[in-house]
Amino acid sequence: PEKDPEHWVVTPHRPQLDEAQLKAAIERGKLIYQEPRSQCVKCHGPEGRGDGEQTDLYDDWNKPKKGVTDQQTRELARWFSLPLQQLKPRNFQEGIFHGGGRPEDIYLRIYVGIKGTPMPAMGPAPGQPGILTPEEIWDLTFYVLSLARKSHPKQ
Ligand code: HEC
Repeated sequence: PEKDPEHWVVTPHRPQLDEAQLKAAIERGKLIYQEPRSQCVKCHGPEGRGDGEQTDLYDDWNKPKKGVTDQQTRELARWFSLPLQQLKPRNFQEGIFHGGGRPEDIYLRIYVGIKGTPMPAMGPAPGQPGILTPEEIWDLTFYVLSLARKSHPKQ
C-alpha cells in the first residue's frame, strides 16, 4: 500500500554517524547544495542566508494577487484585503525552522517540499525518480543544520 500514491508516506531513517562520518556528510551536503540540479542556491543563496537571486516567490495564497505586469498587480490589489506579500526563502543561519529543527524535520521538508510554497520536493515518489536520493537528502540535512549551528552554537 505504501506504493499507492494516495497513501504515500515518507519515513525518515536517520543514519547513525560518528563525528568523522558526520563531517564527511556535511562536506558532501555542501557540494550537493551548490550543484545546479538541487537549485538550493537559487533561492536560499550561496551560504544559506535566504538571499538567492530568485526573489519573485509567492505562496499559493498570494499568487492570485500577482498580475503579469506591475500595472495589473496594482489593479488586482483592490480585490484583496491584505497586500501582496513576497515569500522569503528561509535563512538557515538564523537557525529557526518553522517545520521543526530536528534532522528528521529538515529531511522531510527537503524530501517532500513545502506544499503551497515554491519550496520544491527533491525526493523520489511513486512514478517519479526524484531529483536527489534519500542519502543525498540526509547529507543536505546535515549541511543545513551545520549552517544553523555555526551562528547558534548552543543548538
Ligand atoms: C524555488 C525556490 C526554492 C528552492 C529551489 C529551494 N527552496 Fe527551500 N524554501 C523556499 C521557500 C520559499 C521556503 C520558505 C517556505 C515557507 O515560508 O513556508 C523554503 C524553506 C526551506 C526550509 C525550511 C523549512 C522550515 O521548516 O522552516 C529548508 C530546510 C529548505 N527550504 C531547504 C532547501 C534545500 C536544501 C534546497 C535545495 C535542495 C531548497 N530548499 C530549495 C524556496 C526554495
